[in-house]
Formats: sequence, C-alpha cells, structure tokens
Amino acid sequence: PQRPYVIDEMISAKAIAARVEALAKEITRAFRDTDKLVVVGLLRGSFVFIADLVREIDLPVEVDFLEASSYGDAMETSREVRILKDLRGEIAGRDVLVVEDIVDTGFTLHHVVNLLKSRGPKRLEVCALLDKPSRREVPIKATWTGFEIPDEFVVGYGIDFAQRNRNLPHIGKVRFTDTPTDTGA
Ligand code: PRP
Ligand code: MG
Ligand code: MN
Repeated sequence: PQRPYVIDEMISAKAIAARVEALAKEITRAFRDTDKLVVVGLLRGSFVFIADLVREIDLPVEVDFLEASSYGDAMETSREVRILKDLRGEIAGRDVLVVEDIVDTGFTLHHVVNLLKSRGPKRLEVCALLDKPSRREVPIKATWTGFEIPDEFVVGYGIDFAQRNRNLPHIGKVRFTDTPTDTGA
C-alpha cells in the first residue's frame, strides 16, 4: 500500500522543451566533426528525455540503450548498480553520449561511465536532464545538465516513483498528504 501523495509542478513541459533544444544545440556543436554519435539512454528513466533530445540533435545518430537499476521500487538507492540489459552495439572508437534523467547520489552514472569507458570509446560525454548536487555521494558530473534542482523527490518526464508517474509530461515533486504540515503551533 502506497502512502497518499500529490504532485506539485516543478518544471513545466514548456520549460523542459526549451532546455532540451538548447542542450541539443550544444551537443551538436561539440560533436560537429563526428561520423556518427552513439546516443546511449539509461533505461528506464531516460526514455522520454532521449526521445526528445535525439530529435533535436543535428548529427548522424545511433540510438542504443543500457538498463541499470539501483532503486527498484524503493525511495533509497541500494548503492548497488545492476546492469540488467547491456548495449546492442560496440562503442570502441566511437563518439558516445550517455543520456540520463537524473543524477542523485551519482552511483548509477559513475558505474555506467566506468563500464563504458573500459570499452575504449573515442570520446564519451554525459547529458543529464536533472542534477541534485546536494545528494552526491560519488564525485561525478555530467558534461551537460538541464536543471540543477534541490533535494526533492521528483517524478515525471520518464522519472518514476515506484514505477508510477513516468508518463507525466512535466517534472513534478512528490508531496505526501498523510503527514500533517508543521504549523509551528
Ligand atoms: C534512477 C534514475 C537514475 C538513478 C539516479 O534510476 O533514473 O538512473 O536512479 O540515482 P543515483 O544517482 O542515486 O544512482 P532507477 O535505479 O530508479 O531505475 P529507473 O531508471 O529504471 O527508474
Ligand atoms: Mg534510471
Ligand atoms: Mn527509478
């Protein structure tokens, strides 16, 4: 049984779209000499972001996916990143862009970046839509970040809370409604 909660809008769909367009422009410029950019989405959270981002990237692109999971249905990271599905393609000697929805403790991205770098890509950069720097436990930073956000539990635009709310078109924050607000009285 799930605690009751509501979702308050934090970043509108319009604001996300504008930021995605700007990020794609920067990525296009940074990789302008590539013969092909391998865009790697980390499942499942990045599926919405990668879909919007690749359509704004003006380069020859290959799309691949890797599934890493550390949270499962929990609100706390297990700190153990499991690779549930590996890439279909080879990345040795290739230009690679890893696309992630959110960097929180950093365990997921750190693990994936180390794994992919061990395969000898020509160049590997990371684009993350959201970053919660105050939560970092492993030192890692994306090359490009969409929005830095405070330590709130966020959902939508691909991001889940116990596998729900991924289909929300904006980014919202979860507010539990069974906890009475402290009025200071
Ligand atoms: C979430 C999120 C990031 C990761 C960030 O994935 O999508 O991949 O956690 O947290 P971290 O920086 O603390 O590692 P999750 O493990 O919930 O899998 P999902 O993408 O399938 O939802
Ligand atoms: Mg994820
Ligand atoms: Mn998740």
